[in-house]
Amino acid sequence: MGDKRIERKNELVKQIDFSPAGTTQKITGRIAARFSKDREIYHLLRKKITEPVICKEKELLIVGMPVYAGRIPQICIPSLRNLKGTNTAAIAVVVYGNREYEDALLELCDLLREQGFVIVGAGAFIAQHSIFPNVAKERPDQEDQKKIDLFSKKCMEKLRKYPISELKPLQIKGNHPYQEVIDIPLKPMGNKKCNFCGSCVHVCPTHAINRDNPRITDNKKCISCTACIQVCPTGARKFRGSVYQVARIAFWKKYSQRKEPEWFV
Ligand SMILES: Cc1cc2nc3c(=O)[nH]c(=O)nc-3n(C[C@H](O)[C@H](O)[C@H](O)COP(=O)(O)O)c2cc1C
Ligand code: SF4
Ligand code: SF4
Repeated sequence: MGDKRIERKNELVKQIDFSPAGTTQKITGRIAARFSKDREIYHLLRKKITEPVICKEKELLIVGMPVYAGRIPQICIPSLRNLKGTNTAAIAVVVYGNREYEDALLELCDLLREQGFVIVGAGAFIAQHSIFPNVAKERPDQEDQKKIDLFSKKCMEKLRKYPISELKPLQIKGNHPYQEVIDIPLKPMGNKKCNFCGSCVHVCPTHAINRDNPRITDNKKCISCTACIQVCPTGARKFRGSVYQVARIAFWKKYSQRKEPEWFV
């Protein structure tokens, strides 16, 4: 992407994402890379933000969240509340698995505004569904990438054209009150292929996997994020059982028709 990058001189870009299956990081990173190669990156899966992160007026914040049941992952909210803007420009991104993003983008924009940010652009992009990977398989694809780049370009043009004080509040798709937070009742589990490497225990953001026996998941703590499945080197951790198999087929039948990215700039 080298020569296509649009540098905003002397202005720091901060990238924040939560991405258990990697697609949100990919999309958020692609957008952020268009603005700066030397950016400050916070991957919330690896490390929560526990101290205030001050963002100055001239900086740019780019936040990417996956959609979980029409909302942003609630586990990220304390970290996002530690972002402190000073009328700082922000780009909000949600990534969803071709079903719907419902109130997630609005929720993210509302939160960022409450934290002192001005939303320059907000986009909802589609990626392979992390629970049902046969849906939106291998997205974002080339068509998506073109749209992600177009969205980035539109945000940049707007930032160049108008001072932050002149930006009008964007109308973002979604409803107040947001839809209720629900727990997805499907939880991954280990099996006898487990070699006790501990990778899943280490990556799990909710400490739901038993350190002594990683085949066991605490379903009350698990948020079904799929990070453990991604890191498991033996394929031991998976969604299993007839309920999952039935849901997988039904989900594919209902939501396999391709959706396209939407944005508000
Ligand atoms: C717990 C959970 C809930 C999800 N809820 C939705 C949803 O409401 N709508 C949707 O289209 N996709 C949904 N998905 C799919 C993810 O939003 C999608 O796969 C996203 O790309 C995952 O991001 P990641 O790869 O960064 O983890 C859900 C996935 C998980 C794990
Ligand atoms: S056990 Fe649940 S919360 Fe922990 S990484 Fe696996 S899916 Fe995510
Ligand atoms: S990552 Fe896989 S192999 Fe390693 S401890 Fe977890 S379930 Fe076992």
